[in-house]
Amino acid sequence: MMKLSLTDLTVLKQQHQRITMVTAYDAPSARFADAAGIDAILVGDSAAMTVFGYDQTKGITLDDMLLLARAVRRGASRALLIADMPFGSVQVSDEVTVANAVRFVKEAAVDAVKVEGAGPMLRRIGAVIDAGIPVVGHIGLTPQSADQLGGYKPQGRTAAKAQRLLEDAGALERVGCVAIVLEAMPEPVAAQITSAVTIPTIGIGAGAKCDGQVLVWHDLLGLGVTDGAGGRARVPKFVKQYADLGPQIVRALEAYIADVQAGRFPATEHTYSMPDDERERFEAGLAADRRR
Ligand code: KIV
Repeated sequence: MMKLSLTDLTVLKQQHQRITMVTAYDAPSARFADAAGIDAILVGDSAAMTVFGYDQTKGITLDDMLLLARAVRRGASRALLIADMPFGSVQVSDEVTVANAVRFVKEAAVDAVKVEGAGPMLRRIGAVIDAGIPVVGHIGLTPQSADQLGGYKPQGRTAAKAQRLLEDAGALERVGCVAIVLEAMPEPVAAQITSAVTIPTIGIGAGAKCDGQVLVWHDLLGLGVTDGAGGRARVPKFVKQYADLGPQIVRALEAYIADVQAGRFPATEHTYSMPDDERERFEAGLAADRRR
């Protein structure tokens, strides 16, 4: 399988072919994504919720993200690998941000890192790019700043805010980003950004006019765990669930529990045998021990 390169994404945009991206957090999932022919895998800091059980992304650490990115790297052969720089890894200084981005390249061999935000983050993103590390931007609903944005809400719904997003996208392109994730914004805003920039836009909750789409693994596959009260986790409006694996997993586990409790598992076909002569020798030895 020929590995994709970052420039292939731009070629896809130029050829009006849609780019596909999905998050993944471990090697088997990366293998599934590769086998399906996905273009890019994002080790998203959504792992804070999907893997580590936090209720927002800020809790995940750089070391947590590196652990997941290394696992995904081992599973991905063809797809591009992009990793999120988590909250705390880009806040301190340009130097610390570059050092943290270097860790993603050296320890997990990522093709690019993703950094949320524009405005004050542009200088920092520029420092990472100047260090030779490709950066994917991320604007709109940026979960690391959800508190400042008034929660997990769509962004750019007024003319002034939409204009600001358009300017941010232009600034991210000028600073050298290789692509931009557009999260939770009206379709006309994402469409305008997509035609204004030459780098690919990857939408999530940003309508159908982006150059590509990304979904979170657990949302796409229906792996959302319960909401704590026994119900299914709330799925955002923009998610299309392509499978409902959560209930299937529960049913499989219930069947396993019932089989073990009833003595139906393991059956003969799951059990190792022993050559008859060895078994007789073993039992004769035990009988001799008992006689002593
Ligand atoms: O962390 C993540 O999964 C993301 C996607 C939602 C784009 O940033």
